[in-house]
Amino acid sequence: MKGVLICGGSGTRLRPLTEITNKSLLPVYDRPLIEYPLGTLTRAGITDIVVISGNEHIDQMASYLGSGERFGCKFTYRVQDKPQGIAQALGMAEEFAEGHSVCAILGDNIYFDDLAPAIRSFKSGGHVFLKEVPDAERFGVAEVDAKGRVISIEEKPKKPKSKFAVTGCYVYDKNCFEIIRNLKPSARGEFEITDVSRWYLEKGELAASVLKDEWIDAGTFESLFKAAQMVRARQAKP
Ligand code: G1P
Repeated sequence: MKGVLICGGSGTRLRPLTEITNKSLLPVYDRPLIEYPLGTLTRAGITDIVVISGNEHIDQMASYLGSGERFGCKFTYRVQDKPQGIAQALGMAEEFAEGHSVCAILGDNIYFDDLAPAIRSFKSGGHVFLKEVPDAERFGVAEVDAKGRVISIEEKPKKPKSKFAVTGCYVYDKNCFEIIRNLKPSARGEFEITDVSRWYLEKGELAASVLKDEWIDAGTFESLFKAAQMVRARQAKP
């Protein structure tokens, strides 16, 4: 399986911190944010990783991450000229994936659960990771039946059908690239990753795990601050 680290977007909610710095390079206590999603990939044995970022920040990403040797992996870089959604960014990884399955993770998502068992045992279709949150309308939302199967998935619904946010780590087989090529932009003008997951759902091929530990989308001042506090508290534990 290959890895896709998506560090696009202009980080508007974090201005002025993101005026000249990519959101993924902002500090979370003692290390840049990017190292957390990167760690999620490498812990699952994924070492061949493409980093996708906007043209204004790709140089910083490459300058910090380098070849990948320092992290025990190998990086390839791709520039997303215009931020037109997570699915568009993932689509840029098609050539790199060479027909393999991919694990795509957002550069601002921090997982305290170990996703490695689910990622390593993935065979085909799609797999998403859900987290119960109080403000589901801010995220992709999955409705789940009594057996834990996803029955619907929507991007930022005004009236969420459940409290399960679809978090920013997506495991897909190679079919995702064909799906992305046929996507239409959403009302907000983006190619939505939620539409990719919905395609798998409609084929009966979307699996989901529910996270037990904390998960943070560190895209706001509050969540970035909370992330730093959480990391610090965990490090302090004997
Ligand atoms: C994106 C996805 C959303 C997902 C979230 C997780 O939203 O579109 O489905 O729940 O990441 O962080 P964004 O952060 O781009 O608004």
